[in-house]
Amino acid sequence: KNQISTVKDLTGKKILITAGKTLETIDPVRYITNRSTGKMGYALAQTAVERGAEVTLISGPTNLPEISNVNFISIITTAEMFEEVNKFFEQMDIVIMAAAVSDYRIEKPATQKIKKKSATLEIKLVKNVDILKSLGQKKNKQILVGFAAETQNLLENASRKMQEKNVDLLVANDVSRADIGFGSDQNEVTFLRPDHKPVLIGKSDKKRIAAKVFDCIIGF
Ligand code: CTP
Ligand code: CA
Repeated sequence: KNQISTVKDLTGKKILITAGKTLETIDPVRYITNRSTGKMGYALAQTAVERGAEVTLISGPTNLPEISNVNFISIITTAEMFEEVNKFFEQMDIVIMAAAVSDYRIEKPATQKIKKKSATLEIKLVKNVDILKSLGQKKNKQILVGFAAETQNLLENASRKMQEKNVDLLVANDVSRADIGFGSDQNEVTFLRPDHKPVLIGKSDKKRIAAKVFDCIIGF
């Protein structure tokens, strides 16, 4: 049961995966972002390729080695990710939003470097589009997978996201733990599905978590 499947059971499947973080520009030399390294999304992409899928990987900046045999698309901002995701969505069988998308962007990025004139600085942020939610509203045949990053009330928050975003599988992450999640090679997650009991996937390599995600989807 602990064996990682090497069967090409995703042959013929078109899979879109987003990974890493998005960056939002403050001024020509500064940005806001988050701690995502992209490891989970890249593990998913690698696994999908190994199991025979046709994979499109839309990724923010990472330090990870490139993956062979994927259609790789590099993006920086959430708006760029949204645009690229929408180009591919219709033709996909499975879409997995593993990226840590910036919830806000800077309302008016400065065109010149901001000088340290005053004692305090206010930067106004405006909400970005929720890419996953928009996909949940328009999906037809696509199997939609989302992630949830939580620091408290994991199951409660994650199951709300599952419903609000209309996903078929929600992978809930506790990002308050130092031993798993952001930057780690390991993770511990809970799978949430509509009308199913939560399933804990105990602490293990991100590669094994990725395998479990596809095992779960294949079993739908
Ligand atoms: N997501 C997205 N577009 C956004 C923000 C998030 O597509 N603008 C996706 C993420 O890729 C992830 C899921 O939504 O698959 C949940 O992201 P998360 O940050 O956990 O939840 P949010 O809905 O952004 O809520 P909050 O950050 O307030 O907890
Ligand atoms: Ca968020």
